[in-house]
Amino acid sequence: MYTGLLHTHSGLRYIVLLLLVIVVAKSLVGLLSNKSFEKADEKLTLWLMIATHTQLLVGLVLFFVSPFVKFGGDTMKDSVIRYWTVEHSFIMLIAIVLITLARTSTKKIAEDRAKHKRVFILSASALVLILLAIIMSGRGILIPVRA
Ligand code: HEM
Repeated sequence: MYTGLLHTHSGLRYIVLLLLVIVVAKSLVGLLSNKSFEKADEKLTLWLMIATHTQLLVGLVLFFVSPFVKFGGDTMKDSVIRYWTVEHSFIMLIAIVLITLARTSTKKIAEDRAKHKRVFILSASALVLILLAIIMSGRGILIPVRA
């Protein structure tokens, strides 16, 4: 079960990253060239949110079965255990909140340029956080499952 979940979680990262890069790029182009916020833009933020929430669910289960997640006196002393127990989950949770807000909070905005701007700021921040967290793991951004 652990190995299957790790492969699923690891593989889902590519879908999340791909959708996130598309959303960031499309919102930037929309912002800079004053394009209207179309149905496709809205759908993209929805797919990104679905992929990210699926990643969250798998991550939550992994959290309880991973041998690298440990609670105890040594949790903060061991950098690997600290990363998987505290840092990874915390940084990724913030990124997931930003991605969720990129979809939910834009619904209330009427102006298209302001929508693109909101989506760009929130999703670009999430992208930076996710890349940072994956780099911090030392397992590589595009390396499929740890060595
Ligand atoms: C966008 C969100 C996330 C992304 C992109 C992501 C990405 C990754 C990646 C690339 C790995 C390494 C897989 C490997 O070694 O091949 C991993 C492992 C892991 N993630 Fe996430 N993650 C996300 C969210 C979360 C969340 C929210 C949690 C917990 C609540 C979580 C818990 C874990 C755990 C426990 C591991 C496994 C450590 C191990 O046993 O090797 N992840 N994640």
